[in-house]
Amino acid sequence: MRAVQFTEYGPPSVVHVAEVEAPHAGPNEIRVTVRASGISPGETYVRSGRMRDVVPANFPWLTGFDAAGVVDEVGAGVTGVAVGDEVFGMTTAATRGANADFAVLTAWAPKPAAWSWEEAGGAAGSVETATRVLDRLAVGAGHTVLIQGAAGGVGTVAVQLAVARGATVIGTASTNNHDFLRSLGARPTTYGAGLVERIRALAPSGVDAVFDCAGGALPDLVTIAGDPARVVTIAPDFTAAEHRVHISHSAPAEETGAAMGAADRLAVHGLTTAVTLASEGRLRVPVAATFPLAEAAAAHELSETRHARGKIVLVH
Ligand SMILES: NC(=O)c1ccc[n+]([C@@H]2O[C@H](COP(=O)([O-])OP(=O)(O)OC[C@H]3O[C@@H](n4cnc5c(N)ncnc54)[C@H](OP(=O)(O)O)[C@@H]3O)[C@@H](O)[C@H]2O)c1
Repeated sequence: MRAVQFTEYGPPSVVHVAEVEAPHAGPNEIRVTVRASGISPGETYVRSGRMRDVVPANFPWLTGFDAAGVVDEVGAGVTGVAVGDEVFGMTTAATRGANADFAVLTAWAPKPAAWSWEEAGGAAGSVETATRVLDRLAVGAGHTVLIQGAAGGVGTVAVQLAVARGATVIGTASTNNHDFLRSLGARPTTYGAGLVERIRALAPSGVDAVFDCAGGALPDLVTIAGDPARVVTIAPDFTAAEHRVHISHSAPAEETGAAMGAADRLAVHGLTTAVTLASEGRLRVPVAATFPLAEAAAAHELSETRHARGKIVLVH
């Protein structure tokens, strides 16, 4: 089968499609014929080599965590899903390989009819990550939440999930994305110098939680929250320990060493919640751009600009 991979550190051009052995569903897994899959910004950092001390790549590095497709194998012990069902879901941080003709999923849910294949293909990672962090921050009705980097793949989903929980959401983005953030239910402001003052003006009573999708601004975010325990980052911001901020991730310890701290338990229950919200028209997966599988390198190049509006998706 075709699979996207890289076999050395380097620029986006090292990303290529290779012929590899198709994987099979083991116990508690399913395999899908992939229709669409997500690009993971974290893998662009791994590929570039800039994180090699923290997440050393095991070559060949098969890419992709999330996919949507049609079930074609059901592993032992799996119930409630059958060959031919349309699903979206995720691989694990250890196995990856979703940017391929066939992918083995370890968590999945029925593909919402309201979502295109592209939306469904890019959904699972953002939904799981956003749920994991909103759960840890105990975001609920009546809370005010700041989402830093709200216009990206995770941020756009996090805004909608927090709104669905009844929170008031302030999201940061460049000004050209402010109407877009409003359309998702957030109050927009810009990131960068003066953030603390802008947030005080928007939320004079303070914010209850800060969800950082961007990195690089933890001192300001801790000031805004008033307590590092009310800030969680998902960015590879290795100043987090110094600022006593938790980095939420799901990567296995052998791939991250000590720098990122212990992995959090995956919040796969978020996939089921997402199906309900999608059916109610309360959750979309904004797709920044789509590329054919063969153009995965161009997708990495766009991801590296750090200005994609929503999720970048490969179509198969
Ligand atoms: N730990 C985990 O479990 C986990 C899971 C998923 C992703 N991640 C990581 O989390 C981060 C976010 O993922 P993603 O998929 O949302 O990335 P993404 O889609 O590439 O994020 C792009 C967004 O980042 C915004 N942005 C760029 N520079 C910024 C800055 N200095 N401050 C605030 N926002 C900024 C951009 O906003 P404008 O264009 O409006 O400027 C753009 O909308 C990445 O580093 C990714 O690797 C971690």
